[in-house]
Amino acid sequence: MTTTELKQAFAQAYSHEAEHVFFSPGRVNLIGEHTDYNGGYVFPCALSFGTYLLMARNADKVLRFRSLNMPEVTELQLDTLTTPLPKNHWVNYPLGCIAQFVKRGHAVTQGYDMLIWGNVPAGAGLSSSAALEVVTAYAFNELLGTGYDRTELAKIGQLSEHEFAGVNCGIMDQFASAWGKKDHAIFLNCDTLEFQHVPVKLDGIKVVISNTHSPHKLDSGAYNDRVAQCHLALEQLRTVRPDLKNLAELTEAEFEKIESAITDEVAHRRARHVVGEVQRTTDAVKALKAGDIVTFGKLMCQSHVSLRDDYEVTGLHLDTLAQEAWKIDGVLGSRMTGGGFGGCTVSLVRDEAIEEFKEKVGRAYEQITGIHPDFYVAQISDGAREL
Ligand code: GLA
Repeated sequence: MTTTELKQAFAQAYSHEAEHVFFSPGRVNLIGEHTDYNGGYVFPCALSFGTYLLMARNADKVLRFRSLNMPEVTELQLDTLTTPLPKNHWVNYPLGCIAQFVKRGHAVTQGYDMLIWGNVPAGAGLSSSAALEVVTAYAFNELLGTGYDRTELAKIGQLSEHEFAGVNCGIMDQFASAWGKKDHAIFLNCDTLEFQHVPVKLDGIKVVISNTHSPHKLDSGAYNDRVAQCHLALEQLRTVRPDLKNLAELTEAEFEKIESAITDEVAHRRARHVVGEVQRTTDAVKALKAGDIVTFGKLMCQSHVSLRDDYEVTGLHLDTLAQEAWKIDGVLGSRMTGGGFGGCTVSLVRDEAIEEFKEKVGRAYEQITGIHPDFYVAQISDGAREL
């Protein structure tokens, strides 16, 4: 939908005009997966699709939430904004952000009518929830005049996810949505939150996202298990390295020296992935800066293998898409992106191979899984903003 159409939808829903239109994007992570909550590096970029939030004041001292993607309307009194709604209610994502403002002493005293629309494919692992969180944090930061910077807005989004959605996620998705920059990826140290925007200038190569249409389940289950397994590995490593702050601090050589301290076999493999992935991410960014896309692509493939074998977050759908992509000459690299367990892969594909890629990967995937995948050529775009 265009902004004009969204404004019309707002006027129709609320019988008055929208006063603001805010937008925040989804993201695709190029490399550096399941490293963020271990204090490691990530390398995501913001996409052109995301979540729109239209708002206008009302005289009723309530917040009204409507989404063009969902049927129901939710109306909340202004003195109830720190209480989560029942589990799995979509309003928990924006509400969890508003709650952070209230908890920090920025009371919401004005009522607002809100209309939300998102065009990030749902359940695709492209951070539709982070886009919704960050657009809400951005909007309330403007309207309450709280003056938080984009990093703080990302933290507000992450806390919403922890406290209102029950997912102990890292900072990557919200950070990318807040700090995205057109034609750049974000090389972020998730421990210090220092980052660089690195140009993604790929002559004759496109970033292609392939959607398994097998919904990723980023619920409190498998994802939180991975977080806990990494924590266990860290605890056990601390018996020999008491100073260790997080897994990502270790080089591969340092890890090899002390890995036997991890007695839990699963936790050991999780930690090995994290340590290797941090190294791959650093190497990949170095390669990209040097214009060596071939090395970047190889590291993407190695990342997928490690996520498949050591981290175990891929499965038939993601593995099929990645492995079929690897067979094509014009593919420089292909890997799962995001939390995993379904969702999308990200691939670097030469322009002249894109049609062959879609055709061959699409056909093989459909034969194996019975599902028709979708392909999008990513447009790397700016972060949260008012339109
Ligand atoms: C999800 C989480 C992120 C990150 C990725 C895996 O997208 O929200 O914080 O952990 O999974 O890299």
